Amino acid sequence: MEKETVIRPSLLACDFLHLQEELEECMEHGFTHIHFDVMDGNFVEEISFGEPLFRKVQEKFGDDTTFDVHLMVVNPIDQIRLFAALGAREISLHFEAMCVGDVIELTKIEQEYPSLKIGLAISPETKVEEMREFATAFDFVLVMSVHPGKGGQKFMPEALEKIKQLAALREEKGAQFDIGVDGGINEENGSLCVKAGANFLVAGTSYFKAKDRYESVKRIKGL
Ligand code: DX5
Ligand code: ZN
Repeated sequence: MEKETVIRPSLLACDFLHLQEELEECMEHGFTHIHFDVMDGNFVEEISFGEPLFRKVQEKFGDDTTFDVHLMVVNPIDQIRLFAALGAREISLHFEAMCVGDVIELTKIEQEYPSLKIGLAISPETKVEEMREFATAFDFVLVMSVHPGKGGQKFMPEALEKIKQLAALREEKGAQFDIGVDGGINEENGSLCVKAGANFLVAGTSYFKAKDRYESVKRIKGL
């Protein structure tokens, strides 16, 4: 199963004072997905942005791109409902934030929003063997290659082994889930993630802070 690897810019690293222009440039570059990091100051220390901002960007750019909402929050179920109701097409929650009963709620949400893709994000401390039973039930797994909570951190090479393990699991089970990688992605490690089996790479700093953003996408993919 060969899929093209795509880069998803992470809005967290953009120039917030020029959010609209930043998104317009992303559209010009033809990104099919934009990563939207929601941090609650509880699951992670920082607070980023949430529903009010999403409402605006979805309204203006939601027809042209898919916002991939990464929920770094405790009690993610209510937030998934909120973002799904606003038109989000891809949402990930953290395995480490899941509580008893969430699986049932997720099944209900899937029935309510059949085209919604739900992903499971895993922090560096979570091993694949702990979540492998869950992985196949999700549309994608988001492997965190930094500790969640901040942009601009250094890629943790241990993530590569996890990507390989997940790719092997996908193969073994004949499953379809995508594998995304998030954190510290750049031109040195992007192609390694692709080789390990990743289908999409989230790029915050290495895209938005690049001198030539267009060229940076190709370099990240290792083209
Ligand atoms: C980290 C966020 C990432 C971050 C990526 O907690 O989930 O999506 O924005 O940014 P860079 O690419 O700068 O690590
Ligand atoms: Zn993220």
